[in-house]
Amino acid sequence: MSPEFFRGRRLRGSKALREMVRETDIQPQDMIMPYFAAETDDRDFKRPINSMPGQFQLGPAQLKKSVAQARELGLRALILFGLPKKKDLTASQAYADEGVVQQAVRMIKDEFPELVVITDVCLCEYTSHGHCGLVSGGEVQNDPTLELLAKTAVSHVRAGADMVAPSDMMDGRVLAIRAALDQAGFVNTPIMSYAIKYASSFYGPFREAAESAPRFGDRKTYQMDPANAREALREAAADAMEGADILMVKPALPYLDVLRTVRDSFDLPLAAYQVSGEYAVIKAAAQNGWIDEELMVMETLTAIKRAGADLILSYFSEDVLRLLSQRS
Ligand code: PBG
Repeated sequence: MSPEFFRGRRLRGSKALREMVRETDIQPQDMIMPYFAAETDDRDFKRPINSMPGQFQLGPAQLKKSVAQARELGLRALILFGLPKKKDLTASQAYADEGVVQQAVRMIKDEFPELVVITDVCLCEYTSHGHCGLVSGGEVQNDPTLELLAKTAVSHVRAGADMVAPSDMMDGRVLAIRAALDQAGFVNTPIMSYAIKYASSFYGPFREAAESAPRFGDRKTYQMDPANAREALREAAADAMEGADILMVKPALPYLDVLRTVRDSFDLPLAAYQVSGEYAVIKAAAQNGWIDEELMVMETLTAIKRAGADLILSYFSEDVLRLLSQRS
């Protein structure tokens, strides 16, 4: 006797059954937590970021404390952003030996050697105009910026970073960084490239957090047009060829189609960045009692993994680790 219709409910009848046939799940090793390291004389500096409730700019002692707490919950990897005291036209604090990120890396690797410490390589937090590269004649200069990005990456790795993640979207930067790392003897240090980074309104809260909003213009001459999906394949191909070890798509939830396409076309590990605006909209709705935060966080992260991400950068990482550790 053949069934007349498909009984999808058969495998949904109990929690145990649902778990047996679940196709996607979030594991602690999938999550990468971002931190904002502030250069301050006050080691206990901890300033809340208004548009990102629960996230902070952190002085060294508070950074150590936050990382220790996440480590207890099972954190494996983090990414660092720096807030220098001094910004200038050449982003000199981005590649200074005693720069804020370099110091934070040393401290974290010293304290938690087993953590994978990734650094964001970009100039926008370090330039007085807030653009991701050198500016002349009102334009962001591609090729002259490459040398500074490469210097920044090398200085992060010298300080002990396990991986560098260029987010500037200059053309050719993966090649320049790979060459500089190899030359400095760091042939085994991987590059996670923000290969597919859209010029997105979802970065708004981050720019408050990192004090990196451009003082003039926008980032549309270097970040991608949100309307383009085929172009994502060209960007991914370029970075793969230049030597990227991990590709990233950013933002995540509004670009799941892009994630899926890149997953299907490339065999490199793939990361997705659930960015500040994605975090902020969930937090805001939750604070109003309009949605269930925990459920929405897990649903969005599951969607991001289902679309093809192996790794997820998210400000919810610590919360997720807590949830996962309560479940097991
Ligand atoms: C630096 C950088 C940005 C983000 C990560 N690296 C901001 C930007 O490009 O304006 C955004 C992260 C987020 O919104 O959470 N270029």
